[in-house]
Amino acid sequence: MLNVQILAKKVARMLAREGVAPLCRRALAQLRQQRQADAFDLEHGTETGGLEPLWKLDIDSPNARYGERYEATTAQELHAVLEFLNVPVRDYSFIDLGCGKGRTLIVAARFGFGRVVGVEFARELADTASANLARQALGNTAVLHADAAAYEFPPGGKVVYMYNPFSEEVLARVLENLREHGDGSLYIVYKSPRCAPLLDGCGFLKRHAHAPGAPHIEIWQGIAVNARLAAEKTA
Ligand SMILES: C[S@@+](CC[C@H](N)C(=O)[O-])C[C@H]1O[C@@H](n2cnc3c(N)ncnc32)[C@H](O)[C@@H]1O
Repeated sequence: MLNVQILAKKVARMLAREGVAPLCRRALAQLRQQRQADAFDLEHGTETGGLEPLWKLDIDSPNARYGERYEATTAQELHAVLEFLNVPVRDYSFIDLGCGKGRTLIVAARFGFGRVVGVEFARELADTASANLARQALGNTAVLHADAAAYEFPPGGKVVYMYNPFSEEVLARVLENLREHGDGSLYIVYKSPRCAPLLDGCGFLKRHAHAPGAPHIEIWQGIAVNARLAAEKTA
């Protein structure tokens, strides 16, 4: 479905935020990337490459205007972060908010996570992600066609992944949903973290060290409840 209203709003927001030159550069990068064959897809027989602007897609959510276009994380950088985190993956969930065509889900499932969930609000992308996972025959993986703002997180250890999927309006709601899960077993892995100040200021997350090999990705960890209470007392 062509949603010209969404396109017009996004262009206006980007022009106001970035100006004309960066907008033209993004359009050129998009054309270039769409012409390149994707090495991950050639190797795995999947369809995860390319750039997909949201205005072309079927999205039934008022949050469409806050969303960012689809572009995949590279398997190498995600792998570098997961190695670095060194959590007991069998006991952990990996959740990608705005999973697009599901490349991160394949990487995380192959890495050994006990449970892998992708949440994606664009119907075409969620369908492609499900088809990609089915082709890989990976267990314990699911794609939810849903808005990340409404997602209820499962209990237990989790790595929540985001590649700059949406702006503050949606991220604030995600953080509220995560607040009760904010203990030491929660990690937020955020690529191109445009809304990092929101995580820094939410009161239940602290910055974690950088993973070597993934310079564009920042990591936060939940603050253990006891440490949080102590910090609140001294504040
Ligand atoms: C930059 S792409 C990242 C794709 C994938 N996470 C990766 O790293 O390969 C951002 C994705 O977030 C999705 N998205 C944006 N807002 C969303 C929302 N509110 N709920 C669910 N998905 C959303 C977009 O449709 C897009 O597929």
